[in-house]
Amino acid sequence: MMRLDRWLVTLGVGSRSQVQKLIRQGAVTVNGVAERDPAASCDTDTAQLALNRQPLDGRLMRHVMLHKPAGLLTAARDKKQPTVMDLLPESYAAIGCMPVGRLDKDTTGLLFLTCDGELNHRLLSPTRHVDKTYLAQVDAPLTPADVEAFAQGLHLSDFDAKPALLEIVAPTTGRVTVQEGKFHQVKRMFAAVGKEVTALHRESFGSLMLDPELPEGQWRELTDDELRGLYADAQMEEP
Ligand code: URA
Repeated sequence: MMRLDRWLVTLGVGSRSQVQKLIRQGAVTVNGVAERDPAASCDTDTAQLALNRQPLDGRLMRHVMLHKPAGLLTAARDKKQPTVMDLLPESYAAIGCMPVGRLDKDTTGLLFLTCDGELNHRLLSPTRHVDKTYLAQVDAPLTPADVEAFAQGLHLSDFDAKPALLEIVAPTTGRVTVQEGKFHQVKRMFAAVGKEVTALHRESFGSLMLDPELPEGQWRELTDDELRGLYADAQMEEP
């Protein structure tokens, strides 16, 4: 249960005084009935909201799959540069929908965002071993020795990368599966075998696969099955 004014503020409808004014004017209905009391207690799981007769999505929990384009930072906000949050409605940031992990600015592909902080935290935990799969274009032909080096685990300047699966898809295209997610990890693993990554695209994160129907720059909410899979990856009960 939540006060109506607080619910509307959390959804990003406006400031506390703005939403209180809207409520007093009768612009807000709850389950089809005008509610003029800002302090009215609402069941945020079931109550149907409308503002000026337009239905308003009142959910406080959202889970999103985004097909990240190159050129955007993976961050909640940045003073100078555009971020992935610019692709979502403002209310998503207002309710705390955050990226799970980071993709570099020039990396494309699957990004998962959620309001569930515990799910976010657990999916990134090193003890959880969530697989991430990337398609990498590199500047020189890949060799069986590279596959072997990835399988052994590579020594990077500040840490030893755990064994990773590298499949050669085409002479200069590799599919890499890693369980870690250190800064520039995949690029640095290729650099360790003398190759530069010229393009990097994430195909999957745990059980979640990038929807091939989802164009770059677009997003959609997860299906129930996709969400169930991620909670299982995180070894969490679905709320
Ligand atoms: N590894 C990288 O080097 N960059 C990414 O964006 C993701 C994984």
